[in-house]
Amino acid sequence: MNPVMNDFQIEIRQGLPEKLPPVAILDSGLSHAPRRKDILSETEKKLALRNALRYFPSIWHEILIKEFQQELNEYGRIYMYRFMPTYIMFARPIGDYPAQSVHAAAIMHMIQNNLDPAVAQHPQELITYGGNGAVFQNWAQYLLTMQYLCEMTDIQSLHMYSGHPMGLFPSSKDAPRVVVTNGMMVPNYSKSEDLEKFNALGVTQYGQMTAGSYMYIGPQGIVHGTALTVINGFRKILNRDETPAGKLFLTAGLGGMSGAQPKAGCIAGCLTVCAEINPVAAKKRYAQGWVDEITYKIERLVARVKKAKENKEVVSIAYVGNIVEVWEQFYENGIRVEMGSDQTSLHNPWSGGYYPVDLTFDASNELIKNDPELFKTKVQESLRRHAKAINKHVLKGTYFFDYGNAFLLEASRAGGDVLNEEGTDFKFRSYVQDILGPMCFDYGFGPFRWICTSADPQDLVKTDELALQTMASLKKEAPIEIAQQMEDNITWIKEAQNNKLVVGSQARILYADAVGRIAIAKAFNDALAAGDLLAPVVLGRDHHDVSGTDSPYRETSNIYDGSQFTADMAIQNVIGDSFRGATWVSIHNGGGVGWGEVINGGFGLVLDGSKEAEQKLKNMLFFDVNNGIARRGWARNKEAIFAIKRAMNQNKSLKITLPNQVNDALIDGL
Ligand SMILES: NC(=O)c1ccc[n+]([C@@H]2O[C@H](COP(=O)([O-])OP(=O)(O)OC[C@H]3O[C@@H](n4cnc5c(N)ncnc54)[C@H](O)[C@@H]3O)[C@@H](O)[C@H]2O)c1
Repeated sequence: MNPVMNDFQIEIRQGLPEKLPPVAILDSGLSHAPRRKDILSETEKKLALRNALRYFPSIWHEILIKEFQQELNEYGRIYMYRFMPTYIMFARPIGDYPAQSVHAAAIMHMIQNNLDPAVAQHPQELITYGGNGAVFQNWAQYLLTMQYLCEMTDIQSLHMYSGHPMGLFPSSKDAPRVVVTNGMMVPNYSKSEDLEKFNALGVTQYGQMTAGSYMYIGPQGIVHGTALTVINGFRKILNRDETPAGKLFLTAGLGGMSGAQPKAGCIAGCLTVCAEINPVAAKKRYAQGWVDEITYKIERLVARVKKAKENKEVVSIAYVGNIVEVWEQFYENGIRVEMGSDQTSLHNPWSGGYYPVDLTFDASNELIKNDPELFKTKVQESLRRHAKAINKHVLKGTYFFDYGNAFLLEASRAGGDVLNEEGTDFKFRSYVQDILGPMCFDYGFGPFRWICTSADPQDLVKTDELALQTMASLKKEAPIEIAQQMEDNITWIKEAQNNKLVVGSQARILYADAVGRIAIAKAFNDALAAGDLLAPVVLGRDHHDVSGTDSPYRETSNIYDGSQFTADMAIQNVIGDSFRGATWVSIHNGGGVGWGEVINGGFGLVLDGSKEAEQKLKNMLFFDVNNGIARRGWARNKEAIFAIKRAMNQNKSLKITLPNQVNDALIDGL
């Protein structure tokens, strides 16, 4: 640690300030979270204030109580804006953090990335993505957590309760440095209105998947999976001799995750139209180069799309407006949509995740604040109209899939025409059922990622090269069943630098299976040991992966033995990772598809070039992937049975219970 500390280091070690800072002025240039529902009774509001004030010395309470009351009334939450740090928020080189533990410093790097205004959706409300994906509930939690991370040694663990740092507990060098839980509830209290209430009380938060687990890497985190989905979606619908050029992919959302769609469309080589109702979000993605063109008028969009189709252009276009309007107008104007989806935030439909057609963005936000019940009615009307317009296109040959944003779930709850004739299931499939499940997750391929904590782009270039060499050499030995997946991932990593994917920290994502993840991680650790990289590398993954997430309408939607409604896999995974070497672990209620609809977990693992790190990466990554394959195999998924048998051949200590096949005739004859 540098003995002479700079202002940032002094401020971050200090935790809560000694003197009451001045009242904060919100940055109007940033996107701010919509006002949350006014859900608390007067008695509960008093409890929320009491809860907030316990972070501060009583001498400040008289001033703060008024301010927090105003925040609660105005925004529906107490963010404690006054305590926002004054330093610039971004993932600094790891050496800048005044920590006792290198691993703790790596975690600080990751936390600051999640709150970087270039990365986060509503940075001053501590929301990273998905409308409500929070890193912390308030700024006091942030300040205290950073202080704990500065102080902690390698024989302590910090326990995080939904953004609240409960404190440092003695542990051991092999234990995780941080244990994160977000939104864990007694099951009967896990409805979306419970989240609103307990979040407003300041006792829980919606951590999404990688927001509250400090593992968000900007839209890149999703772009690879989205590119794989779009590429394979087109492979499903096109003849072998056709290419996606001139074929239209229509979807919505240019937010935290959805912003990856136009880039993925260009990587897949098609024409992409992405509707986004929030002009700030659309302009941000346009300015960052994630979408090629931006247009505000539907007539212009129609004309532009006709021309692009004619010329078979590979281009992405943002339309600033409502997606329902686009589906309807494209139908009226005879524009054929080859592939369609949606990535509005329907996991959060009543608080600004989905904006109803025929209302402006501002009018919707007003309605959320002033008449939430009417807003709900408008959302449901819009969803019915949305489904109707999609159905018309589907009759003309559009392939529509659910993108894991709870579109089908919420459209069906709204009475939209999305169920099969018997009313027993959706008539459209999810991207996991059709594409990512059988092609990737069941073989163990998932969104493995790494972050160079030196913050030096050259380290990222070196790790990309190492990953490419490793993948290319593994491909020579790979069985035919996974040859296509290996090939797609090699192409991805070769093109990664050209695609300019980095927003925030120096991070990369790569779909790899257990063998690939372990080999790549070992190559990084060896390079660190040899001094070829400047600073430790953090390994992690999206929770949206083979083993991390139990979510019946998304990650586990291609599990058909009834166990898709259980959450044993995600819980087993986080516990199993925690004692096999993870540097931090996290388990969340609600990421992606909504509170109560999913349990998801993940990890971070710091590679520092040591022998211990090598042991941990081998042990932990092997379990982290094969746990999910074993479960998918037990559910009789044939790709997973193949993959788990292969893993058992590779490691004789692995012994998995395999399913016996039952003759269909025996069952059908009953
Ligand atoms: N399939 C996946 O792999 C995957 C991964 C991550 C997230 N998701 C899900 O996708 C959804 C989007 O995630 P995100 O992080 O981008 O959320 P986000 O809230 O950052 O972005 C959604 C965007 O949709 C826009 N929008 C809402 N209603 C609209 C409408 N009617 N017309 C046009 N635009 C509209 C919003 O303004 C917002 O910018 C979430 O439900 C998330 O859980 C799916």
